[in-house]
Amino acid sequence: MNRAESDKKSVIAIDGPAAAGKSTVAAKVAGMLGATYINTGNMYRAITLAATTRGTPLESPSEKDVEDILRNTSLEYTSSGGSDKILLNGEDVTRKIRAPEVAASVSRIAAIPAVRKWLVDRQRDIASRARLAVMEGRDIGTVVFPDAKWKFFLTASPEVRARRRLEQSGETIEGSTVASVAREIAERDRMDMSRKVSPLTKAADAILVDSSEMTIDQVLDRIVGAVKGDIVPNDLLKKQSRTL
Ligand code: DC
Repeated sequence: MNRAESDKKSVIAIDGPAAAGKSTVAAKVAGMLGATYINTGNMYRAITLAATTRGTPLESPSEKDVEDILRNTSLEYTSSGGSDKILLNGEDVTRKIRAPEVAASVSRIAAIPAVRKWLVDRQRDIASRARLAVMEGRDIGTVVFPDAKWKFFLTASPEVRARRRLEQSGETIEGSTVASVAREIAERDRMDMSRKVSPLTKAADAILVDSSEMTIDQVLDRIVGAVKGDIVPNDLLKKQSRTL
């Protein structure tokens, strides 16, 4: 089976801007479908942490800086039961990568073509080993798995996203307000949408889900309903019913 055929069968792509609720939704969708949950933003965050730890100038890293980071970085990504774990050079950094300092720099690192290529190769490899994968990020439906059969673009208004991010402990600096978090999110979106390689954009064939006025359950109904509705190949559904 070539890659396009296997993508059609086994990947559910969920893309969207920062703090749109992708992680919560993707993890739950994966749980409901017995699929492997893959959070690609965490991989970009881990490389950002690697760069800061090495003292790389994040404003303008040279090609050599980037090569050095990638050559000296081992990334191990595992996922089970809707939660993932990421080891950076053997250290579990799953919590560390949620820090606001990492969030503040990650868009710069994610704009570097060599970093993207390095991670996209790994993302395809991880998904290829899963029977069914729910992969969330910014470019999954457009670049990583352009032939994915199921594509969703999850978004919400800037204010709703800022409120949700504020509710997640440890992800914002002390004294943050809805307005200040909304500004940070807007800046990250601007950088993610305007970069030259793989900018954040909705795939033409992705289903748009605006969750501003929806509960999580409504979002889940929408996504799982679409997947189960008419397009899950029969053999997958049979396998899933055994794991549900
Ligand atoms: O989903 P997140 O907020 O944890 O993602 C962190 C950053 O990583 C985000 O600002 C953009 C980048 N990213 C990306 O460029 N491509 C992806 N597939 C996933 C994340």
